[in-house]
Amino acid sequence: MASNITFTMIKPKAMEKGFMGDILAKIIAGGFKIKALKLTRLSKQEAQVFYAVHKERPFYDGLTDFMSSGPIIAAVLEKDDAVKAYRDFIGATNPSDAAKGSIRALYGSSIEANAVHGSDSDDNALIESGFFFSKRDWV
Ligand code: RTP
Ligand code: MG
Repeated sequence: MASNITFTMIKPKAMEKGFMGDILAKIIAGGFKIKALKLTRLSKQEAQVFYAVHKERPFYDGLTDFMSSGPIIAAVLEKDDAVKAYRDFIGATNPSDAAKGSIRALYGSSIEANAVHGSDSDDNALIESGFFFSKRDWV
């Protein structure tokens, strides 16, 4: 059975552009319940650990520079079949391919600065949530 939890971050460029409130409002209006929420930032080293699965990819160094370049929002979200529902909701990795009205189409700037992260599996949703939050932080 699919889990009802996913994890998201609002990435630095969307934060810098002032989209934090709009994106959180869309997430809530989309039926995702916020279970934990934090305004924070990643060091370069933390971004390297968070994105370790991509360490052989050509975009790893740029991605970890970018993700440590400014404040982010980290959040745990709850909805039925949350991982798939949220990935559908945010749209394709490249904002120019993302479905009309999706978060990345609305607020993304580039394939790297694509407004938000969304977990790709139930296991990773819990691992990524645990990277930022203890169970004490969940409501
Ligand atoms: P995410 O993990 O952020 O939810 O995005 P995703 O699953 O759609 O994409 P993934 O393949 O996991 O890539 C992680 C993040 O790396 C950046 N990226 N840059 N320059 C490039 O070709 C490239 N490809 C991916 C994006 O920020 C992507 O979200
Ligand atoms: Mg991914």
